[in-house]
Amino acid sequence: MDPNGKVALITGAGSGIGRATALLLAEKDASVVVADVDESGGNETVEKVKAAGGEAAFVRADVTSREDVEAMVAFTTKTYGGLDIAYNNAGVGTPGPRFPDAAPEDWERTFLIDLLAVAACIQAQVPAMKERGGGVIISTASIAGLMGYMPDPIYAAAKHGVVGLTRSMEFLQAEANIRVNCVCPGVVDTPMVHRVRDNADPKARAQAEALLASMPLLEPRTIAETVLELIRDESANGVAMAVTYGRPAAWTMQSVTLGLRRMLW
Ligand SMILES: NC(=O)c1ccc[n+]([C@@H]2O[C@H](COP(=O)([O-])OP(=O)(O)OC[C@H]3O[C@@H](n4cnc5c(N)ncnc54)[C@H](O)[C@@H]3O)[C@@H](O)[C@H]2O)c1
Repeated sequence: MDPNGKVALITGAGSGIGRATALLLAEKDASVVVADVDESGGNETVEKVKAAGGEAAFVRADVTSREDVEAMVAFTTKTYGGLDIAYNNAGVGTPGPRFPDAAPEDWERTFLIDLLAVAACIQAQVPAMKERGGGVIISTASIAGLMGYMPDPIYAAAKHGVVGLTRSMEFLQAEANIRVNCVCPGVVDTPMVHRVRDNADPKARAQAEALLASMPLLEPRTIAETVLELIRDESANGVAMAVTYGRPAAWTMQSVTLGLRRMLW
């Protein structure tokens, strides 16, 4: 699908990868709905899109609330007349201590935002896309959705869930002309990663610093470009697309795993 003249809805667009994707899709002449629980970040993204000559509107939505998710889709169709592209990108890591020591409410929240909310967003978006005769849905999983990720087992489990959901929904293309794909980024230079590095626990901070120093970080724009590729490529359906820096995904996955083992054991 060519994003030109289309309507895109992006969750977690108030920061990092979501913001970079909002800017790129607006550059390609899509109208963009910036959804985020963070109002100031979301409004800042809209200002940046508009300053670059694009079209965007902000809606405050907590993706863990069914009501907010329904309202976010309704806002999109009301503001721009329909929904063609949905990018379910909002996500969080689990605050320390690491599972199984993590508090139940902390790890449950990770599953809620990173997996259950993605399914809830898809469920709310499909009827709106059917009204348009089709669409493209993309989610942000992670390289941690394709490999073990020892610092945050719950995050990895949730992201594996997003990959499984994506791969199992390719039937929607035949049924409703909707393609469902996800991106699986390596480590990206966003506030999420900065928060890990700023961990109050000195041991966790040292581990995070060592891991981050061992590889170049991806730019959020690189992930946005992959999202654009998946939107444009009519043959992409049920795909979990790894995005890693200058090396094949398998190499990155192996080196991250080996690096983590050295650091954590
Ligand atoms: N940064 C990385 O290295 C990396 C790697 C792989 C995958 N990811 C994934 O990329 C996605 C975007 O992360 P980022 O790195 O840009 O981080 P980020 O923290 O910069 O952005 C995440 C955004 O999601 C929003 N958000 C969080 N909870 C929400 C909720 N309940 N409802 C609505 N919005 C909510 C936040 O307010 C924030 O604006 C996440 O799904 C993350 O898991 C990140």
